[in-house]
Amino acid sequence: MKGLILSGGYGTRLRPITYSQQKQLIPVANKPILFYAIEDVIEAGAKEIGIIVGPNKEQVMETVRSVDWNADIDFIYQGEPKGLAHTILIAKNFLDDEFVMYLGDNILREGIAEHANKFKANNYDASIMLTEVENPQEFGVADINEDGTIKRLVEKPKDPPSNLALVGIYFFKLAILEACKSIKPSWRDELEITDAIQWLIEKGYEVGWTKVEDWWKDTGKPDDIFEANRLILDDLAHEIRGVVKGGEIRGRVSIDTGTIVNEKSVIKGPALIGRDCLIRDSYIGPYTSIGNNCEILNSEVEDSVVMDGAKLINAGNIVDSMIGRGAVIEKNKRLPKGSKFIIGDNSWVRI
Ligand code: DAU
Repeated sequence: MKGLILSGGYGTRLRPITYSQQKQLIPVANKPILFYAIEDVIEAGAKEIGIIVGPNKEQVMETVRSVDWNADIDFIYQGEPKGLAHTILIAKNFLDDEFVMYLGDNILREGIAEHANKFKANNYDASIMLTEVENPQEFGVADINEDGTIKRLVEKPKDPPSNLALVGIYFFKLAILEACKSIKPSWRDELEITDAIQWLIEKGYEVGWTKVEDWWKDTGKPDDIFEANRLILDDLAHEIRGVVKGGEIRGRVSIDTGTIVNEKSVIKGPALIGRDCLIRDSYIGPYTSIGNNCEILNSEVEDSVVMDGAKLINAGNIVDSMIGRGAVIEKNKRLPKGSKFIIGDNSWVRI
């Protein structure tokens, strides 16, 4: 079985971070979201993976190539994000008889190996994964018959027929190509994969489904990134490889090599700190991930994602925040007093 992983699109709901960084490369627990998808697809047995790349293709390719994966990885360029079903059309020369399509912004705890096995064992033409959600109108939704078969699928319905959302991971045989060729663009001018699967159902193909029991996150918005970060940190192992010169380390904390924590700092887990950081006179609170080469000096940070090279200097108490790569937050000590900002388009600051 081959893997098709989607890492295109503009990620508009995660601006301004996505002006300079492809959405699927945003770190969750210091690892690009996309890497969780690649790991799952390899674990399910895929030896060949095609990654759909879009606007920031060089960045995605460079990041993926920085790791020695146990699979061959090809990149397939999608000029415009014309929909999930469109990616299947442009990947047709890469695809094999059976493949898994995995949206590169999805993370799920249980992996996909069991779901892949059920798809193969039942010899389905397509198999989808469903999970119960509180906000079904934000997803593709399945209407299930009393006998457990799928009646119909609808994309982001105003009036959802159930609370069973489509997880962004799909198993297909090649019949899906015919389906993707046959459907028309939706109201958002995209070729919807939900419509393509609905086409298979209407033409009498065997479409099965499996249920996701553990947590799943579609990381479309900042709050989803925080939540995914919290969920991954819940499984964090305690590991101190940096230098802790006193201070207090409470709970499960991971500190990577080259990082120095000085004696007045307090770090309360679960918290993750990357390589070559300096943490001085600061409090790092639960559910915080700090990337590589960061400086946290005389500041407090909690429940936040701080990316590589960021600096918080006398920055006060920072909560529920996403701090982009190389960003600096520092108290102004010079005259004129007052807050000074140099922030990008669509940024927001709450003070
Ligand atoms: O995450 C689950 C949901 O994903 C499903 O419940 C929906 O049925 C499905 O349509 C999809 O909805 P989204 O609105 O979340 O899809 P989004 O446009 O965010 O695209 C999902 C990923 O695929 C994202 O990482 C960007 C990438 N993508 C998207 C499009 C439209 C591409 O690479 N190319 C594209 O053309």
